[in-house]
Amino acid sequence: MNKRKGYVFVWPIYTRIIHWLIASSFALAFIFSLKENLLNLHVAVGIIFGLMLLYRIIWGFVGPQYAKFSTFKLSLSKLKLYFLEKVQNRWRNIPAGHNAASSWFTIIVLGVGSIISITGLLLYGIQEGKGYLGYLNDEYYMYMFILFDIHMYASYTLLVWVIIHISGVLIEHFYHKTGMVFAMTTGYKKTQGEDSKTGKYKSGLTYIFLIISAMVFFVSTDGKYNPFVLSKYKQHDYKREALVYDAECSACHKLYPPFMLPDTSWDRIKDGLSNHFGDEISPTMKKEDNRISLNEQKVIFNYLKRHSADKSTREISVKVMKSLDGARGRKSITKIKYWKDVHANIASDVFRSENVKRKANCFACHKNFEKGVIEDIDISIP
Ligand code: HEC
Ligand code: HEC
Repeated sequence: MNKRKGYVFVWPIYTRIIHWLIASSFALAFIFSLKENLLNLHVAVGIIFGLMLLYRIIWGFVGPQYAKFSTFKLSLSKLKLYFLEKVQNRWRNIPAGHNAASSWFTIIVLGVGSIISITGLLLYGIQEGKGYLGYLNDEYYMYMFILFDIHMYASYTLLVWVIIHISGVLIEHFYHKTGMVFAMTTGYKKTQGEDSKTGKYKSGLTYIFLIISAMVFFVSTDGKYNPFVLSKYKQHDYKREALVYDAECSACHKLYPPFMLPDTSWDRIKDGLSNHFGDEISPTMKKEDNRISLNEQKVIFNYLKRHSADKSTREISVKVMKSLDGARGRKSITKIKYWKDVHANIASDVFRSENVKRKANCFACHKNFEKGVIEDIDISIP
């Protein structure tokens, strides 16, 4: 007996929630990925996307009948027939559950979506040193570039796939007049078959996933204490770890974190202190700011080289080292190819503006840079 005559109740509220959460979290993750400083939000909705996929996969085994993988129509001849009927517009008798096209569609979304989620989590751990996989940051070199490419191309593939899906639904709705658009909103399809039923356990499972997803969202957007997004790096506190550096090198500019430059660059800066970007620094200068004893210089540069880019797995260090490609480090990071590449889209008058003044004034646009924090979410051009 059907609740509504001529219609079958195919998609219970839970299936519809999964569907729309997967769709919206993917769309939002895509939008948030377009701007660097939205990485936290990107990760938050990304985790929800992954959780919902996982839930959809479980739902495919224990969910209500039409959502079950066992009812999917995966034979190629059925798929061919589906398109043949569509092209000839003699397609009226729609199945209650997934048709051949939407069966394949769902399987591919789950597959490609899982690839996106897994590479995303890995990237977050390996590249950013964050989250539960932050410890993988040590293996950084090996996987970094290929992972990013997989993550990105899989996302574009899914986007194209979704556009095809939406077109298919609209064609069915308006051209074949199947009322398909309403299926995922009201849950009803105009066809024959049994109404779908969900019991207490299945509802419970859904609530658990929804609550976890909501929690993930709120905790992921705040990275200070939360292990999902916590950085494995401690912030530099030069007063504690490098007193001389803090005292002697902070007179004219904020302190540059040691890991941003390779050993060879620190050597060049040390050897060039008598003309340090136009300033003379030596043990005999009258002005206290410019007077740094040889012994202090030794201590300072020993510290800087102990924590230089050569020894760090931070994203900036690895990319700076890679971009040198065997060449000697420059005196300024702004002369290194990697730096030029990431800042290529910033107009040169932005660097000359009142609030920035110089390219090397990293501190103006990268909040907390002197503590060694280069977070995407901290970037803002003043
Ligand atoms: C008398 C002033 C003064 C003192 C003291 C000083 N600097 Fe500088 N430093 C400058 C100027 C000027 C620049 C050019 C960048 C700018 O204008 O912001 C600069 C730039 C730098 C840069 C360039 C970053 C880049 O990649 O472009 C580094 C690194 C640096 N200083 C390290 C040090 C260290 C290490 C010490 C302590 C030994 C030190 N500075 C002390 C004036 C000073
Ligand atoms: C005028 C503002 C400005 C200044 C000054 C500036 N940056 Fe940036 N930086 C940006 C912006 C904006 C981006 C993001 C660019 C993008 O993704 O298109 C960025 C990106 C980066 C990135 C890549 C971050 C990532 O996660 O991909 C690094 C590393 C970086 N900057 C380091 C530095 C260093 C070191 C300095 C100083 C020598 C510096 N920046 C000076 C604005 C600035």
